[in-house]
Amino acid sequence: MAAEKQYPVPPETAEHALLTREEYDRMYRQSLDDPDTFWSEQAEQFITWFRKWDRVSNNDLTKGQIRWFEGGKLNVSYNCLDRHLETHGDRNAIIWEGDEPGNTRHITYRELHEEVCRLANVLKDRGVAKGDRVSIYMPMIPEAVVAMLACTRIGAVHSIVFGGFSPHALRDRIEDADCRTVITADQGLRSGKPVPLKENVEKAIDGLDSVHTVVTVRHTGNEVTWNPDRDIWYQESLAEASPTCEPEEMDAEDPLFILYTSGSTGKPKGVLHTTGGYLLQASMTFKYVFDYHDGEVYWCTADVGWVTGHSYIVYGPLSNAATSLVFEGVPTYPDAGRFWQVIDDHKVNIFYTAPTAIRSLMGQGEELVKKYSRKSLRILGTVGEPINPEAWEWYYRVVGDERCRIVDTWWQTETGAIMISALPGAIDLKPGSATLPFFGVEPELVDNEGNILDGATDGNLCIARAWPSMMRTIYGDHERFMNTYLTTYAGKYFTGDGARRDEDGYYWITGRVDDVLNVSGHRMGTAEIESALVLHDAVAEAAVVGYPHDLKGQGIYCYVTLVKGVEPNEGLHKELTDLVRKEIGPIAKPDVIQWAPGLPKTRSGKIMRRILRKVATNELDSLGDTSTLADPTVVDELITNRANQ
Ligand code: WTA
Repeated sequence: MAAEKQYPVPPETAEHALLTREEYDRMYRQSLDDPDTFWSEQAEQFITWFRKWDRVSNNDLTKGQIRWFEGGKLNVSYNCLDRHLETHGDRNAIIWEGDEPGNTRHITYRELHEEVCRLANVLKDRGVAKGDRVSIYMPMIPEAVVAMLACTRIGAVHSIVFGGFSPHALRDRIEDADCRTVITADQGLRSGKPVPLKENVEKAIDGLDSVHTVVTVRHTGNEVTWNPDRDIWYQESLAEASPTCEPEEMDAEDPLFILYTSGSTGKPKGVLHTTGGYLLQASMTFKYVFDYHDGEVYWCTADVGWVTGHSYIVYGPLSNAATSLVFEGVPTYPDAGRFWQVIDDHKVNIFYTAPTAIRSLMGQGEELVKKYSRKSLRILGTVGEPINPEAWEWYYRVVGDERCRIVDTWWQTETGAIMISALPGAIDLKPGSATLPFFGVEPELVDNEGNILDGATDGNLCIARAWPSMMRTIYGDHERFMNTYLTTYAGKYFTGDGARRDEDGYYWITGRVDDVLNVSGHRMGTAEIESALVLHDAVAEAAVVGYPHDLKGQGIYCYVTLVKGVEPNEGLHKELTDLVRKEIGPIAKPDVIQWAPGLPKTRSGKIMRRILRKVATNELDSLGDTSTLADPTVVDELITNRANQ
């Protein structure tokens, strides 16, 4: 194969970087050959413990047992706040940039610490105790970070639900984790438009008497409905609360948070992360992957409703005493120069975003980028989906002026922290490749039978051993955890992604090999969308697949079979689109709905998605073997219908 374009580490970058290639090689080798020594040294360096652990690791993937630093005691908010006060109390922990340009706030470590303590006391006062689950449904405002840290301070387990999810999706998550406290805001704002968060909470908890407390941040100041038995205002209750609150001593293996994510079947899964291992790896990857130097301003554009926001807006940066920029808005409001304006205004050094954002801004031309200097930028990161080499090159050349290193970071909600990524001063770049594994991560490519594939090859991406920030279970369903991740290839963690490894050992993630879609970097199960569609009386059956989409990476293609006697029409099309929005949220809105008189099924009744994917992508000459179909004429109908749409 022709050599891909490469971008070697410039010597001056290596000289100032935290890690060189030699150091990476040495540390990586140690992390696999002598993991307990490696991780115990890192745990001493990155975390302040109240009590040292008894045992570094105690893992058995065949049983789904993952334990790190057992017996160790720590508190996450202490590590993110208290221990920095003496040296960095006056440093900005958060720079907030609101939806409207010019609406900014600066919050120092000292201020953040005080606010977290106050909220922690308010929660305690309402009876929230160690181990209780708290649902957070908030816009991207500093109070969202306060809410997370306040939970960790008292040992409550937060479960953040992305503000773009519908009341229905919120209710499912509140119920699944039995959250009795919800923290929200009156409204969110995105590109000037309000998002009715408190109103959505009302709908979500209607009739759910177990919820005893809703804390609401006054953000836009709109009128909200109020139930004095249950509702309290954030601002008023904090003003009355004490600004001191001792951090709860947590065991390294105590739960830290639950975060719901989509799988290939059934309802979203509550991915459970614990305290010590998670914090260690979030902290360590933040420092090394972004080559974070003390005093730098760092900006991750994700939402705290996703894992990227958890690990790389909050826990990674704050545990390193970094300044983390929190952005409420969107990349294209008021115009597509918004990111670059924010970067100049706040002198951002490290910028971390998603390929979908890069692709959409790339489509707007270079002028809006060039209008701003971006000279503070040093490191650029991407996450969430494969980045196509054209977008990579644009990011590198136009945004980074060929001066900034790019780190393409592969990881998942389940992995808790970055798993495969370049390190700025250590690893030569190839556009489109996530490059090499982080310390302690042992990737393996296997075929469908589980045979390990060596050398340069394509395969199913597994991780051969446990790592500290690995999810511990699916909340309330350990069996599903085993079946989803650990039994497909016994004794290994299966990622659900396919990957290629090249001659240099670089990994190229090729995308999901299961029925999970990645739409604009958001994970969605095809089954969830199908369940929403079949709620409609007119729908007999639905099958959803992904197809390549220029901006979103993948688009949502729905095949819908109507019940006998119902004719397809425009009105129905809109009703179905609205239904999916209502059930899941706007992010799951179908891109294409194709009416399908029948779906291609095997004789045993299994839908053959492979064929549906081919029809959606219009790859009609490579449909493959259709002889096992119960009724092969269905496919011809699908093709004709597609052409007539
Ligand atoms: C995909 C987001 C290619 C992948 C942190 C994974 C990526 C899923 C990359 C997890 C990347 C994430 N290159 N694909 N750099 N990063 N993915 O749980 O398919 O929202 O399995 O976590 O996103 O999505 P999740």
